[in-house]
Amino acid sequence: MPCMVIVGGFYGDEGKGKVVSYLGVKDNVAVAARGGVGPNAGHSIVWNGRTYRLRMLPSAFANPDTRLLVGPGVLVNPEVFLREVKETGTGGRCGLDPLCAIIEQKHIDQDRGSAHLSGEIGTTGTGTGPCNADRVNRSVKLAREVEELRPYLTDVPLVVNGFIDEGRNVLLEGTQGTYLSLFHGTYPYVTSKDVTASSIAADVGVGPTNVDEVVVVFKAFVTRVGAGFLKGELSPEETVKRGWVETGTVTGRLRRAAPFDFDLARRAVMLNGATQIALTKTDIVFPSVKGVKKYADFPRDALDFVESIEREVKVPVTLLGTGPAVEEVIDRRIG
Ligand code: GTP
Ligand code: IMP
Ligand code: MG
Repeated sequence: MPCMVIVGGFYGDEGKGKVVSYLGVKDNVAVAARGGVGPNAGHSIVWNGRTYRLRMLPSAFANPDTRLLVGPGVLVNPEVFLREVKETGTGGRCGLDPLCAIIEQKHIDQDRGSAHLSGEIGTTGTGTGPCNADRVNRSVKLAREVEELRPYLTDVPLVVNGFIDEGRNVLLEGTQGTYLSLFHGTYPYVTSKDVTASSIAADVGVGPTNVDEVVVVFKAFVTRVGAGFLKGELSPEETVKRGWVETGTVTGRLRRAAPFDFDLARRAVMLNGATQIALTKTDIVFPSVKGVKKYADFPRDALDFVESIEREVKVPVTLLGTGPAVEEVIDRRIG
């Protein structure tokens, strides 16, 4: 694999956290480094019977040998970072770059107090937009100025590129999703920076020639939280009837839902330069997939669905999620 970028192909919440944690264990990853915006992200990871909700740390913590780093492009809320280090018991292997920008209470107040941001756009209220604005204005505080973060300060680009040079497996973990990108998404109903694969690599300080694989994660249906157009949006009643109900990891809001969108998928593959697809929640759309261990044992309707994605999008579906737990994955890379 050596260096793989993982990104969301729709509007976030595709299940990147679960895919990353699976790969971290399966591919014995040396380092997982997070790119993306900041603690507006929320990944649910079901590991050893416990559900972890991570907003700042990389999701690959399930492998005790994996270094967990936060790239300089990411915004850090020190309280959230330190809490997650404690909750996961990963202190000795966590680090963040001294150049990460710091979210302060004023950013959270601005985000929540703004009728435009929290009202019209429907932001997560975590302060990420106002913090990125201060960063662009060159007035933001950096991680190197925060006393409590000192023990974790790490030159993230140096460590990650060092592992790449040694030929070790490296994961660069994206957050949000392609259509929440400030550049490529449904502006103004987007997040505060680009979140496609090129930016995730840049957030961590890895150049494009050092990326070997890009995995775009799609869920077997589309969800969206906050405002903005969602093609084929189902009524709340229909969402319940289909069993597609989800609540947001960060905000607890109900996620809006729609059927899988081939046009969005094709464009997401293009924008991210994806070489592989991970398809999560196949067990929700095709309940008889639950518990299936081999792709060959998939029911015909689920096989037809996977084949239609590969035909339309022209990239192989290599990983299939069959349940929320880290190990509930069918890995077609290994047959
Ligand atoms: P963001 O970075 O915030 O966009 O989140 P994310 O992509 O990590 O996804 P998130 O964890 O917010 O939401 C995905 C949800 O689907 C979580 O509750 C996961 O536990 C769950 N999940 C992931 N893969 C599968 C799967 O294959 N089957 C089932 N049933 N649940 C899954
Ligand atoms: P912000 O990133 O908090 O400024 O929110 C901007 C938009 O992006 C809102 O519609 C949010 O709901 C959405 N958003 C931001 N982060 C995530 C995420 O991790 N998953 C899903 N939606 C997100
Ligand atoms: Mg999420």
